[in-house]
Amino acid sequence: MECRRLGRTDVQVAEIGFGAWGIGKGWWGKADDTLSVRALVRALELGVSFIDTAYAYGDGHSERLIAKAFKEVRHRVFVATKVPPKSADWPPKPGTTARQAFPADWIITHTEQSLQHLQAERLDLQQFHIWRDEWLGEPEWQEAVHRLKRQGKVQFFGVSIMDHQPGSALELVKSGLVDTIQVIYNIFDQSPEEALFPLCRAQDVGVIARVPFDEGGLTGRLSPDTTFPRDSFQGFYFREGRLQETCERVDRLKPLLEGEIKTVAQLALKFCLSHPAVSTVIPGMRRPEHVEANCSASDGEPLGSEPLAALRAHAWPRNFYQ
Ligand SMILES: NC(=O)c1ccc[n+]([C@@H]2O[C@H](COP(=O)([O-])OP(=O)(O)OC[C@H]3O[C@@H](n4cnc5c(N)ncnc54)[C@H](OP(=O)(O)O)[C@@H]3O)[C@@H](O)[C@H]2O)c1
Repeated sequence: MECRRLGRTDVQVAEIGFGAWGIGKGWWGKADDTLSVRALVRALELGVSFIDTAYAYGDGHSERLIAKAFKEVRHRVFVATKVPPKSADWPPKPGTTARQAFPADWIITHTEQSLQHLQAERLDLQQFHIWRDEWLGEPEWQEAVHRLKRQGKVQFFGVSIMDHQPGSALELVKSGLVDTIQVIYNIFDQSPEEALFPLCRAQDVGVIARVPFDEGGLTGRLSPDTTFPRDSFQGFYFREGRLQETCERVDRLKPLLEGEIKTVAQLALKFCLSHPAVSTVIPGMRRPEHVEANCSASDGEPLGSEPLAALRAHAWPRNFYQ
């Protein structure tokens, strides 16, 4: 497993991280906890040293499973978690203030609860789960973050940007107040390359590339006949004609599979890793076999300029989260 520097944190993290939304169950849907812990343990065995979770992933369930996996392997790795917004609006409505979304007592209480779930004394990285650049001028959240850092409860601070809105945190990155940014980046949504990534490189802000498989579409394992459990997140995301269109677009990627790159999933991860701004990419995984397949994407070279140029034509701007 190759490692990369997580921006100004100066911490070396595995370039393939573990996305821990799915194992938290909640909105994502059902998961088998025993299998999820086995997937986490396998990832740790294979050198994955970065895990992305959140309080909201099953109200701490994902965080608790991570603590369980650490006990099994008897070592801990870098964990990034997130504070949910008190305003409970995803994305935040225009006019929502930082004080409504992230009041100081809310940030502090949730940080302390995440510490308990993770059985840790310090969070490596605490992130806000949503962000609006209008919140930069409000001091209360900044004071709360400073206090948590001073108390040693949080080491680094970052923000997870709203879906498909990489332009919504440019002022924050310029401000120097964040160590990391988490953003959707995949073959279909290449928009962070325009302004966000150059700025993150200039400001030495670590980039966590999320949703590399477009919620499963870019694994190449879905077909128009795939059915999802009732009330599952993927059932919502791929509703109506969306699954059919996704599969058609994924089929058009298959002529690009050549040499070491044999699957669409490998191509999708290699695409993310080929941008120099990316510190780590965090595929969501609930099975050891997916962990093994995804970790192997760290082998070999990044994509060359020719396949990257060809992939540009596959960008597909839209928002299936709505
Ligand atoms: N607002 C936010 O901050 C936010 C929002 C979304 C996601 N995230 C973070 O980003 C992470 C990744 O996003 P995501 O989990 O939503 O979506 P994703 O990584 O794009 O896709 C996950 C899906 O891909 C499947 N998969 C993984 N590896 C595979 C393989 N090798 N072959 C076939 N299928 C494979 C998973 O199956 P199994 O689950 O069955 O293994 C799961 O269904 C999350 O886990 C979370 O940490 C953050």
